[in-house]
Amino acid sequence: MGRILVTGGSGYIGSHTVVALLEAGYEVVSIDDHSRSHDFIMDRIKQITGTEVVNHRINLVDRATLEDFFCNEHTGITGVIHFAAYKAVGESVANPLLYFENNLVGQINLMRCVDQYNIPHFVFSSSCTVYGNPESLPVTESSPLLEPESPYGRTKLIGEAFLRDWVLVCPTRVAALRYFNPVGAHPSALIGEFSRGVPENLLPYITQTAAGIRERLTIYGRDYPTRDGTCVRDYLHVCDVALAHVAALKHLERHTDAPPFDVFNLGSGVGQTVLEMVQAFEEVTGTPLTYTFGERRTGDVVAVYADNRKAREQLGWSTLYSLQDMLRTAWAWEQALSQSHNTRQ
Ligand code: UFG
Repeated sequence: MGRILVTGGSGYIGSHTVVALLEAGYEVVSIDDHSRSHDFIMDRIKQITGTEVVNHRINLVDRATLEDFFCNEHTGITGVIHFAAYKAVGESVANPLLYFENNLVGQINLMRCVDQYNIPHFVFSSSCTVYGNPESLPVTESSPLLEPESPYGRTKLIGEAFLRDWVLVCPTRVAALRYFNPVGAHPSALIGEFSRGVPENLLPYITQTAAGIRERLTIYGRDYPTRDGTCVRDYLHVCDVALAHVAALKHLERHTDAPPFDVFNLGSGVGQTVLEMVQAFEEVTGTPLTYTFGERRTGDVVAVYADNRKAREQLGWSTLYSLQDMLRTAWAWEQALSQSHNTRQ
């Protein structure tokens, strides 16, 4: 098995993927500057897997330090999984340059090093945001890519385009994974999502409301053209997202004749409304939730869910965790956070 470099290995999806890689028998080295994550995550990963992973505290924008890292550490690295990026939509609207620099300059610096050391496989974190407000559902990988709703979305669209052009002139082969809405936490409740300040995303807002940290959830909009008037999204468990990265790496390793750049939707294939999520949370956890309806949130798409056939057929991946698992593990994680308040930020 190869040695895999994970950028953003202490982040939400990154940490779950490090666990999945170790459990699949890969050796892992991580780069994470901890600007949006915590340094104790590698200890938590060790508690789960029994394996120590070294994290190098490097910001990808710092090209000289990144080059030093590759110079010293490239031996044996057969693949890179690139998570390290900022992802808060609202913050990206307020500070586009921060997003362009961190997400795109960081990616270019990483691609340079991958190029220099001829690392054969690269997996990229993309997002269903590239489909915008789709005209027909479910979206397939060949659905039209639309003008992004935020600078964050633009960095994902441009990030994919960079890779698409780059593979034409380098031996590296790339899989870009378009995530729909990853939620939940590792069943151990040792790793999960840390929300900075007031959460933007639905699930952390729900669990923080249930925990009494927020007074009430505001459901953005009740007059959308959907079955109950609230927006539809495709939620999937973060551990399933992690397993898809292992599957994508194996696909790149085994299918040397596969396209040098390929994209895969990572979704459950099922759309849930916001109200359905709220009701399912109450049922699964037995915890009532205080909520009200508010105005529509700017930039929200009405409905999006994945056609995930390509990932199922070509990567041999399918979701293992149910909606109930997503909600149960998200709630267990929230309760674990409440018990160790030094970890909440
Ligand atoms: N929602 C609420 N109240 C909240 C938070 C969210 O009603 O307090 C609703 C939103 O309006 C939306 C749904 O819950 O209808 C899901 O919202 P999230 O913020 O959890 O997720 P999004 O689908 O808006 O965002 C996700 C990713 C982004 C990505 C975007 C692309 O988090 O990174 O999909 O569509 F850019």
